[in-house]
Amino acid sequence: TKFWLVIPAAGVGARMAADRPKQYLQIAGRCILEHTLHCFLDHPGLLGAVVCVAVDDPFWPQLPLARDPRIRRAPGGRERADSVLAGLESLLAGGADRDDWVLVHDAARPNLTPEDLDRLLDSLTDDPVGGLLAVPVRDTLKRIGRDGRVLETVDRSVIWQAYTPQMFRLGALREALAQALEEGVAVTDEASAMEWAGQSPRLIEGRADNLKVTRPEDLHYLQSIWPQDR
Ligand code: C5P
Repeated sequence: TKFWLVIPAAGVGARMAADRPKQYLQIAGRCILEHTLHCFLDHPGLLGAVVCVAVDDPFWPQLPLARDPRIRRAPGGRERADSVLAGLESLLAGGADRDDWVLVHDAARPNLTPEDLDRLLDSLTDDPVGGLLAVPVRDTLKRIGRDGRVLETVDRSVIWQAYTPQMFRLGALREALAQALEEGVAVTDEASAMEWAGQSPRLIEGRADNLKVTRPEDLHYLQSIWPQDR
């Protein structure tokens, strides 16, 4: 399956409390964003990639990958959805087809395996809508009140965590995101924009360790399990 790639990488990563955005923190000699990109650059189906970085980001131009001819840069926006939309517009302006598949993957998720990527592509290649990698929740879930006390225990058997990559048709995703942003709907992933547009994305079970680096302990965990030659 051939696909385009959009990597939103314009977040500030406030919860990491580091001196730079989290995608530029190091694991085994390379930064998170480099690890993230390499999983896709090694895949034969990749048509091209867009990395959405903040306009004043001083770190991206210093990476060797910034000069890779398969990767272009788009300006990041205020919210993740703005960044992704800018990436999709950049692909369409560069000649990508509306009916092509596009994968959107968080810059801060460096531990995607080639096997998970292939399972997503193989499972969805003939799907009318598209979908995403996801993981069933492991813990018991509580709905709480403002006072921090439990109101009820939620049925966890029907609750999954939305991961990335998320895989949709370029034109359909662009329209869904643009309309959701115009209407002021909160969309925290691509699937929620498609859902809002009346579609039902498919979930493909992935590995739980394809985690998004959010807090310092996530980075420490990945540093501790990372093979030195990866
Ligand atoms: O903040 P969070 O971890 O949910 O961000 C998910 C991804 O979206 C990160 O890779 C981040 O860099 C990106 N992002 C973005 N533009 C924003 C906010 C977040 O590209 N305005």
